[in-house]
Amino acid sequence: MVSKEKLREKIEVLIDPTCKKTLKETDGIKYIGIDEKENKAILVIALSQKNAKEAKQFKIQLTKLVKLELGFSGLKLEIEDLKSKEKGTVLDKEKKVRYIGIASGKGGVGKSTITANLAVACAKSGHKVGLIDADIYGPSIPNVMDLEIKLPQGTSDEKIIPFKKFNVEVISTAFFIDNNKPLMWRGPMLHKMLEHYFYDVKWSEDIEYIFVDLPPGTGDVALDIQSLIPQCEMIVVTTPHPTASSIAVKAGFGAKQLNHKIIGVIENMSYFKNPANKKHELIFGEGGGDEVAKQLDVPLLGQLEIAQPQNDHHSIYQLDEPNGLVYLSIVKQILQKK
Ligand SMILES: Nc1ncnc2c1ncn2[C@@H]1O[C@H](COP(=O)(O)OP(=O)(O)O)[C@@H](O)[C@H]1O
Ligand SMILES: [Mg+2]
Repeated sequence: MVSKEKLREKIEVLIDPTCKKTLKETDGIKYIGIDEKENKAILVIALSQKNAKEAKQFKIQLTKLVKLELGFSGLKLEIEDLKSKEKGTVLDKEKKVRYIGIASGKGGVGKSTITANLAVACAKSGHKVGLIDADIYGPSIPNVMDLEIKLPQGTSDEKIIPFKKFNVEVISTAFFIDNNKPLMWRGPMLHKMLEHYFYDVKWSEDIEYIFVDLPPGTGDVALDIQSLIPQCEMIVVTTPHPTASSIAVKAGFGAKQLNHKIIGVIENMSYFKNPANKKHELIFGEGGGDEVAKQLDVPLLGQLEIAQPQNDHHSIYQLDEPNGLVYLSIVKQILQKK
């Protein structure tokens, strides 16, 4: 079977018919996936004018390439308009929005809990805050923040109006995805969704910080984030365990390679305060946060204890709980690092 890399090699030399540049030059390949079971290629391609009559010819040429030359039995192809990257950057420069992505090498380390708590702590510190839940594989922000899952309203110019909870404006993949769809179709959908999140959400005019709950690991999404918001700064989450930390380091290096600034590392589930003797039990080992910070050459911003928030309904800590205080201190450090 043809590999993704091979497929990319073959496609990137094709010419966007209206601007006469290769897809590599226009950065027009937005998603490449292979459904191995059905031997199908899944592509999202952006053309400079997707409705031009030349685009039809392009589609035929691409289908021939994929099916006849490369031997796939099927092709799922979506063509979209090439959006100028300027749009996002100009908007952000004017508004001075800071995007802060929360990344981890693997799931289950508390990435979503941390993203939500940072956003809430930042809002409580008097700032206008948004949150994008871009974890397509396990969007859990509505759950963490106790938000109902329903379709958001739109404006007359087709912008999505985010929900508001704890003074944070929230947009989640969970509001849009069909959970019955197999995971592998989510790749191309994700790209489109991310584009919507960065261009088509009606945030408050004076929004200052947008926290992004990224899917675990690196890969396609990391590339999407890079092309849509190259200025996105990153925070890497790890647990104290050496295995978790080595995966977190990989995620961090991935972000570095894509030229994202890494603000620092957060170690979660660092210890459990034993109520009987007040001792810190190191349930998940120790040293992970320090190690990741050292390897990435960034500060360890804080260590969170294993504790349920004093609240039955959601996973947001009060700011006078020990973890709440840590979140507040991390937010202060983020705000200082402009
Ligand atoms: N510091 C913590 N103490 C106790 N439970 C935590 C802590 N951080 C996260 N959890 C719990 O661990 C689970 C995974 O957290 P989550 O934020 O969903 O991780 P991820 O987004 O990395 O998959 C959730 O049930 C969450 O409530
Ligand atoms: Mg999560």
